[in-house]
Amino acid sequence: MRNLKDQTMNSRMKLNVLASLLVLLTAISSCKHDPVFPDNGQDPPPSAFCDPDTVYFHNEILPLLNSGCAVSGCHNAASAEDGVVLTDYSKIISTGKVKPGKPNDSKLYKVLIDNDPGDRMPPPPRSPFTTDQITKVRRWIEQGAKNNRCESNNCDTLNVSFSAHIQPMMQNNCTGCHSGNQPQGGVSLTSYATIAASAASGRLLGSVMHSPGYAAMPQGAPKLDNCKITQIKKWINNGTPNN
Ligand code: HEC
Repeated sequence: MRNLKDQTMNSRMKLNVLASLLVLLTAISSCKHDPVFPDNGQDPPPSAFCDPDTVYFHNEILPLLNSGCAVSGCHNAASAEDGVVLTDYSKIISTGKVKPGKPNDSKLYKVLIDNDPGDRMPPPPRSPFTTDQITKVRRWIEQGAKNNRCESNNCDTLNVSFSAHIQPMMQNNCTGCHSGNQPQGGVSLTSYATIAASAASGRLLGSVMHSPGYAAMPQGAPKLDNCKITQIKKWINNGTPNN
C-alpha cells in the first residue's frame, strides 16, 4: 500500500518536472535569437561593447555602402540604378542580393570581387573596395548579415595618428564620394596632402560636426560617432601630423 502511494507520488513529481521543463523550453525558444527577417525597419539598440571578431552592420558596412554605392547616379533612393537602393538595412536585405551566411551566393559580395570592370562595383572610374573592405563585407554576410551595431567605450584619443585612425576613417566613410578625377564637392580625401588641406580650411571639422555654414557629412548617412569626431579634433589640434 505504502509502496503504491510512493510510486504515485514519484510519477506525479516526474510529471511536474516534465511540465516545468516544457514551460522553460518554450520560454527559451521564443527569445532565443534576434530575428534577422523580417526586419521591422527599426535600428537595433547598440551592444555595449564591440566584439573584435564581429563585423557590425551600422558601424562598418552601412558607412561603406553609403560612401561606395548609395551615391547620386548609383544606388541612392533617387537614382536606384537597377532598382537597387543601398541606403538602409531593410532596403539592402530586400534587394535579395544578400544571402545570410553565404557570401558566394550574394550578389552584393560578388560584384565587389568581379574581375570584369564592366560588372565590378563600384564601377570605374571609381576605385574598387580595398581588400580590407571586401573582407569586412564577406565576414558580415558569413556572420548572418545581421542588423547589428555596437558602441565602443574604448575610444583612443591619446595616440591619434593619421595612418591608424584618420585615413581608415576617410576610406570607410568618405572616399567613395571624395576620390577619383571628379570628387564630389571638388574635395578629394584620398591622400595625406588633400586631407590635411581640408582640415586646414576648417571644412573637414565643420562638415563632420554639422556646423552651420558647412555641408553636413558624411552625406546621406548618420553623423560620425563622438569617438571619430574627437579623434579628428585631436589630430587637427596636434597640427595634422603625417604619422
Ligand atoms: C554620398 C556621398 C558623400 C559622402 C559619403 C561624403 N561626402 Fe562630403 N560631399 C559630398 C558632396 C555631394 C559635397 C558637396 C556638397 C555641397 O557642396 O553642398 C560634399 C562636400 C564635402 C566637403 C566640403 C564641405 C563644405 O561645406 O565646403 C567636405 C569637407 C566633405 N564633403 C567631407 C566629407 C567627409 C569628411 C566625409 C566622410 C566622413 C564625406 N564628406 C562623405 C558627398 C559625400
